[in-house]
Amino acid sequence: MTTDQASQPDPFQALMECAQDTTMGILLRSFWQPISPASTVMPGQAKVLKIMGQDFTLYRGETGTAHLVDARCAHRRTLLHTGWVQGDEIRCIYHGWKYDGTGQCTQAPAETSEFARKVRIGGYPLKEYGGLIFAYLGKGAPPDFDLPRKDVLETGSAVMIARTEVWPCNWFQLVENSLDAVHVSFVHHAGTVGPFGEAVSNAIPQLEYQETDAGIRQTATRGEKNVRISDWTFPNYNHIVIPTPGGGTWMDVCVWRVPIDMDKTLRIGVYAVNSDDSEERRSFIEYMNTFGGYDPSQNHEALFDNRAYPEDKLIQLTSAQDYVAALGQGALPDRSRERLGNSDAGIVMLRRLFWRELDATRNGQATKKWKRIDQLGELPTQSAMPVSAGGHAK
Ligand code: FES
Ligand SMILES: [Fe+2]
Repeated sequence: MTTDQASQPDPFQALMECAQDTTMGILLRSFWQPISPASTVMPGQAKVLKIMGQDFTLYRGETGTAHLVDARCAHRRTLLHTGWVQGDEIRCIYHGWKYDGTGQCTQAPAETSEFARKVRIGGYPLKEYGGLIFAYLGKGAPPDFDLPRKDVLETGSAVMIARTEVWPCNWFQLVENSLDAVHVSFVHHAGTVGPFGEAVSNAIPQLEYQETDAGIRQTATRGEKNVRISDWTFPNYNHIVIPTPGGGTWMDVCVWRVPIDMDKTLRIGVYAVNSDDSEERRSFIEYMNTFGGYDPSQNHEALFDNRAYPEDKLIQLTSAQDYVAALGQGALPDRSRERLGNSDAGIVMLRRLFWRELDATRNGQATKKWKRIDQLGELPTQSAMPVSAGGHAK
């Protein structure tokens, strides 16, 4: 690394950061990031949320358009979501100052209009896609909305359901988990073995990692007919395919690990089944309605003290198994005390890639121009490859 040791003495610490004034915080903010399921803020509603250590007000105007501004009013710093959404603007509860979606104050009732014109809070571009709201929290103009896109989310025939979990640990170990194919042979055989663990088996895979236009392609070969290929997208996005409970069309799982803070991570994603079969669609919706609300962090003691894994053997079990392994590392793992082996090639490549991009960011040089991979052309399907396309719910 060509790290500036004075400003960034610990390369491992640099990987875990997310605050606005850190190099990783700047790098992460140069990408569109999902911040909320679209359905959790209806027209006329507002909520407060924290992303990468910053507090925001997310509100949906009465027109249906979503907006993101800073959490607090410029005047006396009270929380804006407690006020009123009016048209496409939000009015503060305390003294009625009103802001538009760009953060411009449009009215301060007890002041002159010239006064209001000079007041501004932060306002951030949003995009709704696949049932999620994405924000651009960086400086300058946002990049094209390219990396989050997946063909499966644009077929028009897929049933798409958004879900979130909040894990009390740093985001980077959850990204590392995506580039660690060996864990599947163990973690997903903990407690009990679900369809995913069964499909992958507990064989130790041959591994191959390749940097792509979008991130890293991971190939884990456990036998002639047991090859998992997954394309991970920089900096925190994984797309995998897992079995569905009914045994029909596999579901696509598109999941981001978005830091809420250093020690808290939003796992936010879209679960999609692309099928014309009305029974498959119905049973997927029913399954997600019944089991999709699970968050292993709400079952922490049961999992750690009693090995009480959930009954649902798909989304809930897979998530709980990953949770136990990742939280067992601690909220902020000490990587200087690890003992890596050859099978950690994916972790090593991932960290090197981040350090490269962090160095460029820190030195004011151009970072790589990541581009999405056309998934339909690139990912094998389960019909072509019995254990396929990557994977598992994480
Ligand atoms: S604190 Fe918002 S108007 Fe006074
Ligand atoms: Fe996993």
